[in-house]
Amino acid sequence: MTLAKVLLVYESKYGNTKLVAEAIIEGIKEASDNQAAIYELKEIVLKQPPDFDAVLIGLPNHTGGPTGGIKKFINEVGKLWGIICWDCKLANDEEVLDIVGEKRSMKITSKDYSAPGSYKRYMLVSNTSPHNIEVFVLKDYLKDKLNLDFRPRGV
Ligand SMILES: Cc1cc2nc3c(=O)[nH]c(=O)nc-3n(C[C@H](O)[C@H](O)[C@H](O)COP(=O)(O)O)c2cc1C
Repeated sequence: MTLAKVLLVYESKYGNTKLVAEAIIEGIKEASDNQAAIYELKEIVLKQPPDFDAVLIGLPNHTGGPTGGIKKFINEVGKLWGIICWDCKLANDEEVLDIVGEKRSMKITSKDYSAPGSYKRYMLVSNTSPHNIEVFVLKDYLKDKLNLDFRPRGV
């Protein structure tokens, strides 16, 4: 098996995204021999695309979207291939502009429990580019796959 070099870059004002980012890197290292590096965005100076097979980005939601620094980083690194989020409020066929301003529509496939490893699939599909962005919604995924439910803290 080919080893992958994974880079995780995050931004975190209050430390929540940092905790999740550190847990993800720990999980990657525990589960595989892949090399995994973690940096806070402000530590990164980008002169050329980083020499990694996968770049993960951890970001808090600021006024309904990513921070300016993270947007700039994504534009410099290249295309966004996937989004992992807790919840997704977009409905099937709803149109949005992606991070680089390209028009996309959300496609949600129906649940198919007959296929092993299946889960409800969300895709941000572009009409003009073959490049789709897969959206992993953890709330649905954990409920579907592991029957796990979480309540917000303090409720
Ligand atoms: C300037 C600012 C704007 C925010 N806007 C939103 C928002 O629009 N929607 C939301 O759900 N949370 C919003 N939040 C809450 C953050 O997403 C939340 O506190 C997150 O856990 C912060 O991550 P961090 O601890 O890594 O900084 C905002 C926080 C800040 C500081």
